[in-house]
Amino acid sequence: MPSLQRTTSAFASAGTRPLRARRSCLAVPGSQLRFHAKADQSAADHVFLDLEDSVSPASKVKARDQVVGALRTYEFAGKVKAVRVNDCDTKWCYEDIIAVVEGAGDRLDCLVIPKVECLDHVHFVDNLLNQIERKLGLARRIGLELQIESARGMENINAIAGASSRTEALIFGPADFSASLRIPELTVGRLKPEYPGDYWHYFLARVVVAARANGLQPIDGPYGQIRDTDGLRISAERAAMLGFEGKWALTPAQIDVLNEVFAPSQKELDKATAILETYRNATDVEHTGAVMLGDEMIDESSRKMAAVVVERGTSLGMKARPWQPSTRPRR
Ligand code: GLV
Ligand code: MG
Repeated sequence: MPSLQRTTSAFASAGTRPLRARRSCLAVPGSQLRFHAKADQSAADHVFLDLEDSVSPASKVKARDQVVGALRTYEFAGKVKAVRVNDCDTKWCYEDIIAVVEGAGDRLDCLVIPKVECLDHVHFVDNLLNQIERKLGLARRIGLELQIESARGMENINAIAGASSRTEALIFGPADFSASLRIPELTVGRLKPEYPGDYWHYFLARVVVAARANGLQPIDGPYGQIRDTDGLRISAERAAMLGFEGKWALTPAQIDVLNEVFAPSQKELDKATAILETYRNATDVEHTGAVMLGDEMIDESSRKMAAVVVERGTSLGMKARPWQPSTRPRR
């Protein structure tokens, strides 16, 4: 695996919306200062300081200052910098947003909004941010990452995904979602091998389609068995195959697996680059269209698939190498 260069710069533009590297999104309890320095030094693409479920009700108000302090103290260099506030139906949400954006809005890329269930939730946050940004004269707009983690949120996912031009990502939240469905489950994001098939498939597929239909990045949520790296890898690989661009990490120890799984392999990048070159030659030089590359027929749709892989790989600092198709002997 080549070393990957992380980037928070836009690696593709979907209108004015930046698409940032989010292979690994590290959850950092806002009220536990010892984790802030570790997050700063971690290899995560994205760090979010949490004011929600990892912070006790008694610590919520104090945690606002601690999160602002962390954003002002640490660079979190090369990482997407986010804060998860409390959800719109709590008494904390509006003051979380005001405290964090007024305190460190110039150092913040995104807010993570948990338990988004309807359009109104997104509009509330969007409008509040409009006001704070105008007041402060912030040069950059704060982006949004919306967590879908209830039956109601899933039912309204398309409206939610299209509700604000600030939104950059939809995040699936398996823990709260399990509680919302009232399923008998006690471990966050578990694979559930006893279920015939992949228990999560349907929900994840809905998130990825809604996200892509609205130009957003789909991100998978946490895997709670933090010592089970093999299980994390399987969970991440399934999400990556469905089109997810990253997954949450609950500890820095989960980051490397995620950075690897959500990047193209060197072989994939090499093949994708060969597809682009072969097809460019076929169309621009030979003036044919569909053409053979080894045993495979490639055409304009192959070019589009290859472009996705090349864009992801190059945005992560990977370089393509020469690639030769392996042809099967004819019978
Ligand atoms: C994350 O917030 C989850 O509920 O899984
Ligand atoms: Mg949750």
